Amino acid sequence: MQSGHQSIFKLYYIHRKAEQLIKINLHIMTKLFISTFTALLIFASCTQVEPEETDIDYETQSIDQAVVVMHATEGNSVEGTVVFTQTDEGVRVEADVSGLEADSMHGFHIHQYGDCRADDGTSAGGHFNPEDMEHGGPDDEMRHVGDLGNLQSDADGNATSDFVDSKLQLSGMTSIMGRGVIIHAGEDDLESQPTGAAGSRLACGVIGVANPQ
Ligand code: CU
Ligand code: ZN
Repeated sequence: MQSGHQSIFKLYYIHRKAEQLIKINLHIMTKLFISTFTALLIFASCTQVEPEETDIDYETQSIDQAVVVMHATEGNSVEGTVVFTQTDEGVRVEADVSGLEADSMHGFHIHQYGDCRADDGTSAGGHFNPEDMEHGGPDDEMRHVGDLGNLQSDADGNATSDFVDSKLQLSGMTSIMGRGVIIHAGEDDLESQPTGAAGSRLACGVIGVANPQ
């Protein structure tokens, strides 16, 4: 008799446990349903927000303008800005730099990394070369994408330059966004490999998305 009582009791106990489990599961499922529904609602309301008319065209993923603020490397005082603007013929490059030696030529390149952490600018790596070409001048067919030639300084050590480069892109696979810009102590001879023998680095900057203002 005693074992019969025990088994009835056990059955009752198992039944109660099963009921509790079902209740807990229902509770969790309800919670899950509510949180999923809420997430869907939030997602739906987010996707309805129209992107503002700003720096990036979100449909074509294109950027109209980029800017670089040049910072002097250790022991130098070269500074300035470079603005890159997308045009139909390529990218317009407008450089405005001060602190250079007077009346001299200075290698001017886009380098692989937008990384100016090293005091001497070497952290920017070599010339930006996504097409695996040899070093050249901006007008050469064979050139690194980053080969922008030279900046020429005036009697006060200032240099300005304004030209359109057909190789540069602000969007797409070979985009220059996030890369580095370097101004060198010496002249780029436009032929020595792999750097044009332009010497040490006077200033380094990072290509960023420009504020359209
Ligand atoms: Cu360089
Ligand atoms: Zn080069």
